[in-house]
Amino acid sequence: MAGAFLSDIQTLRKRAREHIAQGAVTPGYHADRDVVLRLLNEALATEIVCVLRYKRHYFMAKGIHAEGVAAEFLEHATDEQAHADQIAARITQLGGEPNFSPDGLTTRSHAEYVEGETLEDMIREDLVAERIAIDSYREMIGYLGDADSTTRRMLEEILAKEEEHADDLANIIEDLGH
Ligand SMILES: [Fe+2]
Ligand SMILES: [Fe+2]
Repeated sequence: MAGAFLSDIQTLRKRAREHIAQGAVTPGYHADRDVVLRLLNEALATEIVCVLRYKRHYFMAKGIHAEGVAAEFLEHATDEQAHADQIAARITQLGGEPNFSPDGLTTRSHAEYVEGETLEDMIREDLVAERIAIDSYREMIGYLGDADSTTRRMLEEILAKEEEHADDLANIIEDLGH
């Protein structure tokens, strides 16, 4: 039965030999690569902006002796950096170029860079940014569907982490209220 919907071995072997320079991108890649690369570069910009915002918040929170919250900010900054690296690696794997240019960074990013005046401001702004990231990753995952399952799985992992971040921040806000 498998033969009914799988390509036969000869066809698979022949196709794999064509366009060797495209590496992991084979003729069977069914997503719109330009769109995927654009979305991934927007996600990369978002992650970089989040790293910068969390770093700022980490050092400012340390300055006002909010050590517990500062530690959380630092942990999130480290996670966002790891996401940025994963996304950049996938962009090159797809034959694109990761955009690390500071020019236009905040325009490409979905989330904003807000410094915040008080500790509460910082936490609230971080929560807003996480909620933006959650929705944009969810949309990208829906868009990709089965057309690029590797990128989709990577984004699903990142999404799960952003949900954890949002939950951490919501808990901190609740704790501070008591
Ligand atoms: Fe992230
Ligand atoms: Fe996050």
